[in-house]
Amino acid sequence: MNLKGRHLLTLLDYTQEEIQYLIDLAARLKKEKKEGIPHKVLTNKNVVLLFQKDSTRTRCAFEAGALDLGMGVTYLGPTGSQMGKKESVKDTARVLGGMYDGIEFRGYKQSDVELLAEYSGVPVWNGLTDLYHPTQILADFLTIQEHFKTLKGIKFTYFGDARNNMGNSLMIGAAKMGMHFTACAPKSLWPTKDLIDRCQVIAKTSGATLSFTEDPMIGSKDVDVLYTDVWVSMGEPQEVWDARIKQLHPYQVNAKLMKNAKPTAIFMHCLPAFHGLDTEVGSEIAKNFGHIYPAVKQGELEVTDEVIESKQSVVFQEAENRMHTIKAAMLASLVEKYE
Ligand code: CP
Ligand code: NVA
Repeated sequence: MNLKGRHLLTLLDYTQEEIQYLIDLAARLKKEKKEGIPHKVLTNKNVVLLFQKDSTRTRCAFEAGALDLGMGVTYLGPTGSQMGKKESVKDTARVLGGMYDGIEFRGYKQSDVELLAEYSGVPVWNGLTDLYHPTQILADFLTIQEHFKTLKGIKFTYFGDARNNMGNSLMIGAAKMGMHFTACAPKSLWPTKDLIDRCQVIAKTSGATLSFTEDPMIGSKDVDVLYTDVWVSMGEPQEVWDARIKQLHPYQVNAKLMKNAKPTAIFMHCLPAFHGLDTEVGSEIAKNFGHIYPAVKQGELEVTDEVIESKQSVVFQEAENRMHTIKAAMLASLVEKYE
């Protein structure tokens, strides 16, 4: 397998074998790291991380991953670079491509990460756009593989806004890897017909199945993995909270849904998660909406504190795996072969 020079913009561009290769490479790098075996094989390279939106995991995964590989790293945050205000994405691509060996981009438009890939001349990794979050899926699937030893045939349900970057990317990933994917959400929050149709074609060759339901008891019945994400994504206006809580409070992952799944089921979340009163947003929502929707009165939104803190929750293993998988993605794009 040689992925040198490849961008990672969406998993739609990757085959099942390539995705499996990245997950297995990440598992190897994780083992090496745990055993204290250094892998500083990219000491003559530098990468730049371009963030139009905030981040904890993705930024730190790219930084720590790059440092472990021996690379230099520059972080450009939502403020402070010229991009967007005084300089086009196309010009930024050519400037950064002349100085760096790879570019990570987190922002709004998928077309922006595509422009960077087209014009920079170096590998570009998508660290989240409104449409996709491919590096998150690599970490999620490494975590599932560590837990169940396989991806094929895993019964996986995503609860919440199924047409956001996470819903879209998980459906694509599941279709590629032969999983049984269900999106459990009100119909208006299902992925677009166009993306579902594309994924159904992929599913035919991998043995995956894709289902859609509005009923949380059907969605959680006998599944292996229950997954959720925030109800309002970065970049969406604050005003949508009202409607979103109304639509999605029945899809909160709670003890009742966990009990309806297999006894061996795990809970997953890309994080950050709202599961209590100890965040500004969580306490604000509880104050403004708790009297209307009792489910959210303790600041527990997409998941209850009980579930995320339970033994079935693998969210922090999943978060750590961001680093190992992002490191694998950078390494694969930058070398022909890792001996
Ligand atoms: N899951 C994830 O992408 O987290 P950050 O927003 O902290 O990067
Ligand atoms: N859907 C979320 C994912 C965060 C990792 C967002 O875009 O804010």
